[in-house]
Amino acid sequence: VLEERHLKMIENKKNQKKIILTGDRPTGRLHVGHYVGSLRRRVELQNTGDFDKIFIMIADAQALTDNFENPEKVRQNIIEVALDYLSCGLDPAKSTLFIQSQIPELTELTFFYSNLVTVSRLQRNPTVKTEIKMRNFETSIPVGFFTYPISQAADITAFKATVVPVGEDQLPMIEQTREIVRKFNSIYDEVLVEPEVMLPDNAACLRLPGIDGKQKMSKSLGNCIYLSDTEKDVRTKVMSMYTDPTHIQITDPGHVEGNTVFTYLDAFSKPEHFAEYLPEYANLDELKAHYTRGGLGDVKIKKFLNNVLQEELAPIRARRAEFEKDIPMVYDILKKGSEAARETAAKTLAEVKAAMKINYFDDLDLIKDGPAARRKLMDNAISQLRPGYAKLISDYNRLYEQKAAILKDWREKPSLLDTLDDLTDAVNHGLAQFGYPLRTRDEVRRFVGSGARRLIQRAIP
Ligand code: TRP
Repeated sequence: VLEERHLKMIENKKNQKKIILTGDRPTGRLHVGHYVGSLRRRVELQNTGDFDKIFIMIADAQALTDNFENPEKVRQNIIEVALDYLSCGLDPAKSTLFIQSQIPELTELTFFYSNLVTVSRLQRNPTVKTEIKMRNFETSIPVGFFTYPISQAADITAFKATVVPVGEDQLPMIEQTREIVRKFNSIYDEVLVEPEVMLPDNAACLRLPGIDGKQKMSKSLGNCIYLSDTEKDVRTKVMSMYTDPTHIQITDPGHVEGNTVFTYLDAFSKPEHFAEYLPEYANLDELKAHYTRGGLGDVKIKKFLNNVLQEELAPIRARRAEFEKDIPMVYDILKKGSEAARETAAKTLAEVKAAMKINYFDDLDLIKDGPAARRKLMDNAISQLRPGYAKLISDYNRLYEQKAAILKDWREKPSLLDTLDDLTDAVNHGLAQFGYPLRTRDEVRRFVGSGARRLIQRAIP
């Protein structure tokens, strides 16, 4: 049985397509933290053409797990996130953009996976832990919120995603998904695919701070630069950025570590930007060196960052303005994407149900024969062990004279011992199909005289 499963694993791996799934909760407009953390990468990956399928999901059902009292907020932000996606260059011809709640198959998968996850495992999920603290849920955690990592595993596995490009905070979710996949496959069948996480490759992009220098950009802290901000908003925010509080006079030596402007430059600036806007420096290292020495003012570096950001954001802003002129078309993109995504999820759900043996109406043998199907399975198992059994009986008969001695000590007849091992394997193969405990060689030996069929019948109540 094991061997069969491993062959299937190898076969699956060989035929494995490259599939991306990722998404965002629609609780607000997307900001530049989302952009460098994942969005920019998705567009690049989309345009490499290396992937067989790309699914980008607006996770409204997940957003509702901690915004259930605020459905209007979630509803309004779906279009905002969709506009952000499209304006960044996600192309519905290459990537399937869809809305989570429109795929009911995901909730079915969540329900089945929840058998494979313990409460204590969920409690140990570091992201859930911090979020529970942040939302003051400690004393009364809504079940839906508590189990959202399971639903996220459903999102990922429904599309058999191999790669999930996300920010660092999502790592525990992917780890939990991988555990669910391994458990499902080992209990039922090799149906699900273990995903790999793809994180941003630069530290500044991994965790872009807010303009106030606080840990993370977040709407509630009011420290975000949104992709949809106007040119003027962006400039005002950049000019107010937190820098180095010890850098008071221009001539003072400055610090680039923990200096938000430099963190943003790490995330956004390219050598071309220097040639264009700040030709007295060849690259960011030179700029940093000057700032550290002293003699470089904050206004100059902020103006440079503003130029860099505007250059990156201007085309996004322009595309957004175009898409905003035709909102019905954007909803249509989401509707078509949701239909396509649903087809894929339905295929996986059918495989999951077959593996879990809850595909009653598709199992024609079961319908036709009823209890006879169970007998047929057993006969099948027995016929597989017949050759080993036949050989054992013939060896046994051949050695009939020495029967008493053989029964006393099998170890004296190595060839018989081999056949007994074969038979034991065959019996165990049969038993495993019914999920019954395996038998030792000695147990099998005791039954040789009365036949393998009786052995199996005794083992199966
Ligand atoms: N949890 C993600 C976030 O908060 C959103 C999300 C839901 C997601 N399902 C997903 C991301 C599946 C990647 C894969 O941003």
